[in-house]
Amino acid sequence: MAGLIRQLGVHSFRACKRPIPAGRSFSSGSSRSYAHKITHSWQAIAVAAATAAGASYLWRRSCPVPWVAECAAGEKEPAGKARPGLPTFSRQEIGQHNKVEKRIWVTYRDGVYDITDFLPQHPGGSEKLMLAAGSAVDPYWQVFAQHNSEPVWEMLEEYRIGNIAVADRSENSCSTNQEGPYCDDPPRSPVLKVNTKEPFNAETPPILLSEEFITPNELFFVRNHLPVPKCDPAEYTLEVAVEGLAPVKFTLEDLKTKFPQHTVTATIQCAGNRREELNRVKEVRGLAWTGGAIGNASWTGVKLRDVLEAAGLKPSQMEDEIRHIHFEGLDKNPLTGQCYGASIPVEKALDPLGDCLLAHTMNDTELPRDHGYPVRAVVPGTVGARNVKWVSRVVASSEEYDGQWQKRDYKGFSPSVDWSNVDFTKAPAIQELPVQSLISSPADGAVFGEEEDTVTVQGIAWSGGGRAVIRVDVSVDGGATWKEAELERHSQRPRRAWAWTLWEVTLPLQAAVSTQLCCKAVDDSYNVQPDTTAPIWNLRGCLSNAWHRVNVTRK
Ligand code: MTE
Repeated sequence: MAGLIRQLGVHSFRACKRPIPAGRSFSSGSSRSYAHKITHSWQAIAVAAATAAGASYLWRRSCPVPWVAECAAGEKEPAGKARPGLPTFSRQEIGQHNKVEKRIWVTYRDGVYDITDFLPQHPGGSEKLMLAAGSAVDPYWQVFAQHNSEPVWEMLEEYRIGNIAVADRSENSCSTNQEGPYCDDPPRSPVLKVNTKEPFNAETPPILLSEEFITPNELFFVRNHLPVPKCDPAEYTLEVAVEGLAPVKFTLEDLKTKFPQHTVTATIQCAGNRREELNRVKEVRGLAWTGGAIGNASWTGVKLRDVLEAAGLKPSQMEDEIRHIHFEGLDKNPLTGQCYGASIPVEKALDPLGDCLLAHTMNDTELPRDHGYPVRAVVPGTVGARNVKWVSRVVASSEEYDGQWQKRDYKGFSPSVDWSNVDFTKAPAIQELPVQSLISSPADGAVFGEEEDTVTVQGIAWSGGGRAVIRVDVSVDGGATWKEAELERHSQRPRRAWAWTLWEVTLPLQAAVSTQLCCKAVDDSYNVQPDTTAPIWNLRGCLSNAWHRVNVTRK
């Protein structure tokens, strides 16, 4: 049946998950073909699903596998139920099967599967499936729910080789330590690529970045400097202080009921995203993010300017005395008691079109603890560091926030500055980020078969300050020649393009050569990414936005 689906050409789960929503259009020129392709894929999937269901019925009738027999009465039993009579394997043993040479095993619920022969047939590409090699596919299926369907369960059961040992049947989430300042941190999805466990810092596997326009909460990168605070929503208060006035307090209920609610779709990117590439030029200090410290979500909450006005701030004050809006988080350094804090210019905070929020909802659900429950600042178009989580205090001040992460970090410097001569007072804090794009698929080092004479390149692009991405150029020969990618446009207002743009392009692959794919985005101010990393190297490894390069080989 897997072969049957392959013949039907169901290549793209991504297309299946992204029907064109209202208010969304495609870039001119190539739009028709892209829209047509999506419609076409929808049709192919519908046909495939129907045909697969028919084929699976025939297969079920002729197959003596007990799991199928249990389903014959008509219930649609998910795959992965422990089946008597099959061998059992420990998680340790399963974990060793993470390379094709050793054969690729994965688990789903209590089942163990050898999927080596299925890899080339996976509609989303073998690289995505390899993320789960030697471990569980459950967390991926929780995020990409289209896998929870009868044809997929049946396909998986064809590759069944055993059951997980009883002692190893447990929750599929990263457990946190039982002791120490991080013991109250929340459980996390094992899909995230962990950079440091304490504090928890993890990125979205870059290959999954462009799967969906909205990054699912479980997959959204996490950047924590400190332990995640625990907050009782009934006790929560937000203190808002305007210099010269008495502070005003709001409960969570106040924020949800006493102000108009707004939803903004905005990308958040860490200043250190793609730092790992700068590290290759010369060592930098900081987490070695590859490309996944970026995500796109829809945020709901109250406008920051509404709350500031309710606390007494008058727009006229912004002319002289009030210059900065501070945010302080509930997370504290366990040794010093110092909290995380940052500030943004008052012009951004009060701009009626700036869309700054104090958000309580992420992608239609309560903010997850890792992302700032119960309230976080969302400052669209602005570096992640100013999107302060667990906000408990907002201050309208004449001064910039005086804290480590505002004044002594998250700044850019010349490549000539090193730790012997750096002066953090000389550079302004990063606020708006420069134009960025990266290739999410194929992955670096991907190998294509002889029969594959084209490569479909997918990725994301975004620019800070609400600047829209107007073009993404992609090269299959290291930058010698370029082709424009098709942009997946979602309606965004001019100067308020807070969300990223997904893109895709298909390019020819020459036989028997290794080649370098690269991409560069252009925003609506005609800013373009620099070609190489060396000239933008800086000692903290921030603002890494050179052309993104991926090496691939065709056999
Ligand atoms: N807010 C608090 N209170 N504490 C933090 O450690 N990290 C900041 C910002 N807000 C941080 C914070 C940084 S550096 C980034 S990139 C973003 O949160 C990451 O947001 P996320 O973890 O929701 O992806």
